[in-house]
Amino acid sequence: MVEALLRRNATWAEGIARTDPGLFPRLAAQQAPEFFWIGCSDSRVPANVVAGLDPGEVFVHRNVANVVHSSDLNLLSALEFAVEALGVRDIIVCGHYGCGGVRASCENAHHRLVDHWIEPIRRLSVQHAPELDALPSAEARLDRLCEINVRDGVSRVAETPIMRAAWEGGARVRIHGLIYGIRDGLLRNLDCTIAPLPA
Ligand code: CO
Repeated sequence: MVEALLRRNATWAEGIARTDPGLFPRLAAQQAPEFFWIGCSDSRVPANVVAGLDPGEVFVHRNVANVVHSSDLNLLSALEFAVEALGVRDIIVCGHYGCGGVRASCENAHHRLVDHWIEPIRRLSVQHAPELDALPSAEARLDRLCEINVRDGVSRVAETPIMRAAWEGGARVRIHGLIYGIRDGLLRNLDCTIAPLPA
C-alpha cells in the first residue's frame, strides 16, 4: 500500500536527519556523484543498495536487461549529463546472473514489446553460440550470456560519440563491466574496463 510506503519514507528521512543531519542540506545544494550506473530494472539489483552507496553518490540509468542501445535517447541523455555536467569518474555497466530479460532472449516464446528491446542479446547469443553450447547446463549458458551482454554494453558505451568527445577533450572517465550475483549479493569485476589512452 502506498500509505505504508509513505510511512516508511518518513521514518527513513527522520533517521537520516538524526544520524547525518548534513546530508539533505548538502544534497539540496548540488549532486556530485563519482559513478554512473547502467543496470537492469530488476528489483533485486538496486544500484545504491548493492554498491553500499548513499544518496548523491551514484547517477543511475536502469532498463530491462541493462541493454546499451546506441540509439536509446534515454540512456544517451543520462550518459551525456553524467559525463559532461556531473563529471563522473567511473561508468559501470552492471548485469546480474539469472537475468529474466537475458533468459527471455534465449526462449522461442514471444514476449510482445520486450522482444524488440532484447533483440541485441538474441543476436549476441547467436554470435557466441559455439561457446555457449559447450557449457554444461542451461543455467551456465544463461549466466555466461549475462556476462557477454555486459561486455557488449561496455564497448557500446565506449563507442558513443559522447565518450569519444569526452576522451578527446581530456576526460579521464573509465567504463567498467560488473556482474551481480543474485544468490550471494556480490559484485564481480568482469575485467573489461575501457580507459582513455595515457595523455
Ligand atoms: Co535483469
